Amino acid sequence: MSKRPLHFTAFIWPNGYHESAWRVVEDDVRGVLGLRYYTDIARTAERGLLDSIFLADNMAIAEYRATHLPQTQFDPISVLSALAAVTDRIGLIGTGSTTYSKPWELARRFATLDHLSGGRAGWNIVTTVTPLAAAAFGELAHPEHADRYARAHEFVDAVTRVWDSWDDDAVIGDRENGVWADRGRLRDPRFHGQHYDVDGIQPFPRSPQGHPVLVQAGQSAAGVGLAARYAELVFSGPPSLDAAVAFRSDLHAQAAAAGRDPEHVLVLPALMITLGGTEAEARGRADRLEELASPEFRWQNALYTAGLDPDAYDPDAPLPAQLWTGQAAPSSRAERLYAAARARPGVPLRELAQDLTSGAGQTHFVGTPEQLADHITAWQDAGAVDGFTIMGSTLPYELAAFVDEVVPILQRRGRYRTEYTGRTLREHLGLRRPGTSAHAIPVPASMDPRALGREQR
Ligand SMILES: Cc1cc2nc3c(=O)[nH]c(=O)nc-3n(C[C@H](O)[C@H](O)[C@H](O)COP(=O)(O)O)c2cc1C
Repeated sequence: MSKRPLHFTAFIWPNGYHESAWRVVEDDVRGVLGLRYYTDIARTAERGLLDSIFLADNMAIAEYRATHLPQTQFDPISVLSALAAVTDRIGLIGTGSTTYSKPWELARRFATLDHLSGGRAGWNIVTTVTPLAAAAFGELAHPEHADRYARAHEFVDAVTRVWDSWDDDAVIGDRENGVWADRGRLRDPRFHGQHYDVDGIQPFPRSPQGHPVLVQAGQSAAGVGLAARYAELVFSGPPSLDAAVAFRSDLHAQAAAAGRDPEHVLVLPALMITLGGTEAEARGRADRLEELASPEFRWQNALYTAGLDPDAYDPDAPLPAQLWTGQAAPSSRAERLYAAARARPGVPLRELAQDLTSGAGQTHFVGTPEQLADHITAWQDAGAVDGFTIMGSTLPYELAAFVDEVVPILQRRGRYRTEYTGRTLREHLGLRRPGTSAHAIPVPASMDPRALGREQR
């Protein structure tokens, strides 16, 4: 291959990522609630030799969403475990919240998936934007942005210690002497931090990848800081090529400053795609989706995805000024919304939201397979990306078109694999497998068990 290989992950969303997708696809509207829907998408992605599929986790939904979009927010690990059984090679990335999980139980769930899939698991680390999650989990308040990220650092440290609590060679299977595993090769994870105390080994041996691949999608300064420290794969939502180049080079500089090799921090921006045999056909399909789009949905979604409660605002009034003067924004998307309100004071929320992109902040590519291949290689050549997170505006149509039409063009150009050469997600991505002794995260003195007078086994 003439260039570094491209990497792709397929974002699975009910009927497609465009909000109107469910109104144009011909499938049974309840089909997205069955395993068959996910199986077909996962197998199509695997047929296209993609690195992985990806499942989001929006932990609490606002009720407006039930009106406008199919609601299928299942537990990602349950879905991915079922998909592990019907696929062979494709990576399985699921989202897990650091704010609304416990480190030990999250470590266990992702390591279970890694075992059952033969080393194909990845964890998309999110801090959860929506304050509605607090009520769902019986919490009094949703932690603020900075606090969520401070907890996330500790959380990831604690999770990786649990994953490292068995040496790779701990299972010896000595039938003669009756020793299944060497107890001397277990390590107590004992993590003591400001927010979390974790003690207790993983209840099964280390998983095939050692650590499921660590993924991160936060776009704020704190989000990028977390990615620079831990993430091996980063989802982003840059508004332009220049912004994408700047994002990747800043992330790499921060990763290097944290003592990491930037080559092992891959950036795959979110890209919604609408394809057609001709440009006019693709444009017609995209226009149809836009015609069906609801302004009611757009303003509510702009608030929800920014971390604000849509039920608390009047769409015909401007965004209250006290929000965007002085207060810390609850997310990078809220920062963008506040900036728009500051630039256009007095403009009703409904109108303001219309101009902001919905969902994960992705851009929308509309064109032919050849044009998409050109777009992808141009962004790679500019140093903006290591590949893309492909969001079909409709599913499975766009993913099948990507696999059948775009992948072969990239293969002919020597930019994409023609077969899987590895078995694990780490191998697909060219990432190292971490050892237990080289626990990548230095232990701050205050958290070192020895400094706390405890002994580590
Ligand atoms: C491709 C992509 C996928 C995302 N998936 C999720 C998700 O599943 N659950 C979630 O809570 N946030 C998700 N996010 C949002 C981010 O993880 C992050 O929480 C959000 O951007 C707020 O953090 P920030 O202020 O650091 O940007 C996603 C973002 C992107 C770009």
